[in-house]
Order: sequence, then C-alpha cells, then structure tokens
Amino acid sequence: MDLFRITGGRRLTGRVSVEGSKNAALPLMAAALLGDAPVTLRNVPDLSDIRSMARLLEELGCAIAVDGDAMVFENHDTSLTHARYDIVRTMRASICVLGPLLARRGHARVSMPGGCSIGERPVDLHLRGLRALGAQITLEGGDIIASAKRLRGTTIFLGGPFGSTVLGTANVMSAATLAEGTTVIESAACEPEIVEVAELLNAMGAKIRGAGTPRVTIDGVEQLHGASRRVMSDRIVAGTYALAAAITNGDIVIEDFPYDALLAAINHLEEIGVDVRRLDQKQDPRCCAVRVSAQRVLHPTVITTQPHPGFPTDLQAQFMALLCLADGNSIITEKIYPERFLHVAELSRMGAKLYRQGPTVVVAGPNRLTGAPVMASDLRASAGLVLAGLAAEGETIINRVYHLDRGYMKMENVLRQLGADIVRENPDRDVEQPSRTEVSTA
Ligand code: EPU
Repeated sequence: MDLFRITGGRRLTGRVSVEGSKNAALPLMAAALLGDAPVTLRNVPDLSDIRSMARLLEELGCAIAVDGDAMVFENHDTSLTHARYDIVRTMRASICVLGPLLARRGHARVSMPGGCSIGERPVDLHLRGLRALGAQITLEGGDIIASAKRLRGTTIFLGGPFGSTVLGTANVMSAATLAEGTTVIESAACEPEIVEVAELLNAMGAKIRGAGTPRVTIDGVEQLHGASRRVMSDRIVAGTYALAAAITNGDIVIEDFPYDALLAAINHLEEIGVDVRRLDQKQDPRCCAVRVSAQRVLHPTVITTQPHPGFPTDLQAQFMALLCLADGNSIITEKIYPERFLHVAELSRMGAKLYRQGPTVVVAGPNRLTGAPVMASDLRASAGLVLAGLAAEGETIINRVYHLDRGYMKMENVLRQLGADIVRENPDRDVEQPSRTEVSTA
C-alpha cells in the first residue's frame, strides 16, 4: 500500500490550479442515466471514486468515452437496473444512481451502502423522498428495490436530524425531473454541487427552479436529451491547498479557485490571520485566481460545521491541523458527522494537544508538531495529516494514502511543485525482491 514520506518545515510558494470537483462529478455522472442522448462532462478529475462510478454506469448499460478530462456518456441498454454490492461497498456515492434509474427505467436495485469510518450515514431521507414521489420501495438481501410506472410530483420535506442531505437532494431532484406534475423539495441541500446537478439537468431539458436555496421546484417533463457541462472546481481541494499555504507560513497563488463556494472557510482563515485575496475582481468569483499568504502568528477561532453555506465538514480535519499552531485555544464542533474525529488520535501522535468531548474538540495552541508515522483513516482526515506533516519538525510517514487518492489528484506532485518535501512510496513494491538463490528455506 502506498505511503507518503514528508519532511516538514518547508515554506510553500508558487502557483497551483484546482481540479474538477469529485462531489459534483459523481451525481452529474449519475444524472447522465436520465438522458436519451449523449451527455458530456469536461474537467472531470482522474480519481479512484470517478473510476468506480464509471464502472458502475458501464454495468448499467451506459457506454463511456474518455478523452483527456472529458467523459461522454451514452445509454445503450436501459434494461439494466442493478447496482451491485461489490461496487457500492467501495463508494457510498453509488446511491445517487437510485433516483435516475427509477425515474428513467421504472426500476432500480441498488445495494444499501454499509457502515462508514466517518460515522453512521443512513439513506432514509433518500427513500422517504422517492416514496413520496410514488415509488414502491422494499429491502431485500441488503438491496434497495424501487419501482414505479411513473413518479408523481408532490411536496416533500427532506430535512433530517442533521439538516439537509446533499446526495438525497440530488437523488430526489433528479427523479422528479421525469415525474408527472410539479415537485417541491423543502429543506433541500443548498450545496454548490446541487446547483451543478440542476444546471446540467436543465441543459438536458428539465425544469428546475430554486437550486441552491432550501426550496427547489421541479416541473416534470416527458423526456431529457443530451447536454454538455464543465464540472465546477473542487471547493475542498481548493480549501486544502489554501491551508497548505497557511500552515507553512507560505504564499501561493491558486487558480480556478471557487471563491464563492468557500466564503465560510475564507472567513475563518481571515480570522486566523491568513490573507485570501482575489487577484482580479473582474474574474468570475466561482472560478478565479486567489493569493493565499499567512502571517507568522495565527489566531485561534471557533468553528462549527454546518450545511452550506456554513462551514463545510469536509474541511474540519484540515483546519484542526492548522489550529494546532494558533496562539491560543480553538474550539471545533462537528454538527454533520459527530463521530468524524479519527484524525484526533493521529494528530495527537504528532504532538497536538486535543481534548474531545462528544462532537467538540478543544485544540490547545500554540503547539509544535513533530513528525511521526500515522495512519490515514478517511479522505479528509488524511488531508489533515498531510498538512500537519508539512508543518511538523522531522519526518512524517502517512500510511494508507489510497484514502487520499479518492479525492485529490496526485496531491504529492502538487505539493512538491510548491516546494514541499514529500514522496510517495510503496514498501511492498519498492523493496527489492530476493533473487531465487537468496530465498530463505527457514
Ligand atoms: N443523513 C441522514 N439520512 C439520510 C441522509 C443523510 O440522516 O438519508 C445525515 C447524514 O448521516 C449526515 C447528514 O445527514 O449526518 C448529511 O449527510 P448528506 O446526505 O448531506 O451527505 P452525503 O450526501 O452522503 C456528501 C458528500 C460528503 C460530505 C457530505 C456533507 C458526496 C459524494 N459526499 O455526502 O463528502 O461530507 O455531503 O457535506 O458528495 C467527502 O468528500 O469526504 C465526503 C464525505
């Protein structure tokens, strides 16, 4: 398994650009199942989760042509409706084929996603929304089986104990595009990725209003055709690289930065003493160049993760790493996934002083981080550990970086380009195999 070896203490400088968003691309790919003509997505990141989704769509009779960062999807067999456990268990986002399959093919059998290292992640809201649209849904052998001749529009409240649901909104909104009549989703997720899905669907002929607000209205249509779209920049990758500048006292320019989608995080960076400046006010704030530079003294802050436009849970671990260096105590409360703290024990191995009580962690600073071998446990926790490694004294070894590869395109190359001392190694592959005569007979 690949690992990262990082020698910390290098100040990052230079220029990087942000890749397309994984969390936008996945539901956009699933939405292609609704089209009766080819759908083209550009700026699709080359990540393991994207490859898993592509494999799933191919199994569902969707032909995919890849050309650089563009993917063209064309449905050639609409009789296939089974998303198997083997694929779903590798990627929870497979659940977002449920709504499109049901609406376009009248039937879906999608393996129920299992447990997850960041906490319990039920799909009850997805099912509640689809049932409200008239789907018959049962659970059999670990699979969700959904069917409907034609879905019917209605008003649906999609809020849950932790607020709205991003992929649940994408699922119900996608399904409602082909329903008879009008659907209103109340307490819809407002994340920019939902706006992306709605804009693609509208380009395919859907009639969606209000995406990006808590009330989304969908007038059902008979059929959707093809369309083409450039996937938005990844706001979490952008935020992570901004933090890489901050934690190394660096000064970098980030291009294709989705500034508008990151206002809560930018607000916190400014409170901490990190300057995030748009280079050209005339550029589109959804995709612009910013300069990120940090002062030597970082200030503590109080962060609570919330649904968009609040502070994103997917940047919580990375901010925790940064706040270890702040001059005073910070408080981080996780309101989306109260158990998303696997990085706490690993950061503590690097000398962080973290005190957790339930969904809240007090980060005591300022504190010097020291390099150590640590274990990546999930995508964003791993990103937090890489940031800590960049700032730590000495060598940090991050094991199991396959978690990172799910959401960051060749992160080590990007960071090295900015001056970081980071290499990817695979101890199994890199260790010289003994020659035949050297094989031990013991
Ligand atoms: N929830 C329910 N019932 C449901 C669905 C969700 O109770 O039916 C709860 C969840 O357990 C959680 C909260 O609602 O407490 C929000 O979950 P949501 O459904 O919004 O999450 P998701 O759509 O499954 C996406 C991202 C996550 C990101 C969350 C929150 C993708 C592929 N995943 O997940 O991204 O953390 O929204 O913003 O878009 C990541 O990229 O590392 C990642 C985990």
